[in-house]
Amino acid sequence: MMETNNKLNNNTYIPQNQSVESESQPKIIINDAIKIYKRGKIEVVALRGLTCDFNQGEITVIMGPSGCGKTTLLNMIGGLDRLNSGNILIDGRNICHFSDTELEKYRRHKIGFVFQFLNLIPELTAEENILLPLELSGTLSNERREFIKELLDIIGLEERKTHRPDELSGGEQQRISIAAALANNPDIILCDEPTGELDSQSKNMVMGLLHSVIEKFPDKTIIIVSHDPDLKKIADKMYYIRDGAISHHFSKKELKELKNSSSEQNDFSLQDPNRAQEVALLELRELSHIINEKIKKIDKNLHAQ
Ligand SMILES: Nc1ncnc2c1ncn2[C@@H]1O[C@H](COP(=O)(O)OP(=O)(O)O)[C@@H](O)[C@H]1O
Ligand SMILES: [Mg+2]
Repeated sequence: MMETNNKLNNNTYIPQNQSVESESQPKIIINDAIKIYKRGKIEVVALRGLTCDFNQGEITVIMGPSGCGKTTLLNMIGGLDRLNSGNILIDGRNICHFSDTELEKYRRHKIGFVFQFLNLIPELTAEENILLPLELSGTLSNERREFIKELLDIIGLEERKTHRPDELSGGEQQRISIAAALANNPDIILCDEPTGELDSQSKNMVMGLLHSVIEKFPDKTIIIVSHDPDLKKIADKMYYIRDGAISHHFSKKELKELKNSSSEQNDFSLQDPNRAQEVALLELRELSHIINEKIKKIDKNLHAQ
């Protein structure tokens, strides 16, 4: 396994020795992140001074109710969008100072995304879906093909590689999505509600897969955002976000207790007395955002006609 890791690391954007040097430092440091979205005249503060960090070789789970800023945070780490203020250090380099070209290069070489809504292309087979991002970036060497084979082996779907998404279960599709996110051998894997659409058996499979990815590739950093308390089972580190800021960083002891607790009754998020009201409010806000977006789309279509 080691041999494969070293071989693959020769192709990463930042060389392996650079990340090993900073082993005791967190891989990712986010400092006082502020992100404000504007909707017409209304400003929505999605991140309000969020500070946290993430270690290489670990799965960090960030939990929080709908609308608290989880997706926004992932988009910022993944270089899909920019903060209004604050810093994001990756291996000590501040990506907030990157030019658009540098940011695109960073995104393409260092980041793998796994989304809630299974984002496979229906016309392509499982294997083609995994190969697609590589073919687009023109980096499909024989070595990389071997890696894909290894990935299919890890996700346990080698025999399914010629199947199309509609011939696969939700859990299998999400495992293929994870393999597709890994195909480019990114340092950082960002998962947005990866178990959101899955039944409990598929969910366990996906959690098991993410867990084995970090075991087999300890040079990776996995961040999962979700409102699903079950994900604590695979967390090495866990934060809780509320209203755009970290409201709790679970200590190792708390996390251990949480993992040992039998049911969701002991879940931190459910102990918060004001939470129900807040969740309702945030969900309402999110819903109004979705409706507004839909109206905008309809307007655009009408305009185009
Ligand atoms: N592109 C956008 N434009 C305007 N508001 C947005 C946009 N994206 C997110 N928001 C708002 O920012 C807040 C945080 O959203 P988000 O990060 O998607 O939360 P979560 O992923 O935790 O549900 C919400 O109030 C949401 O409506
Ligand atoms: Mg979200």
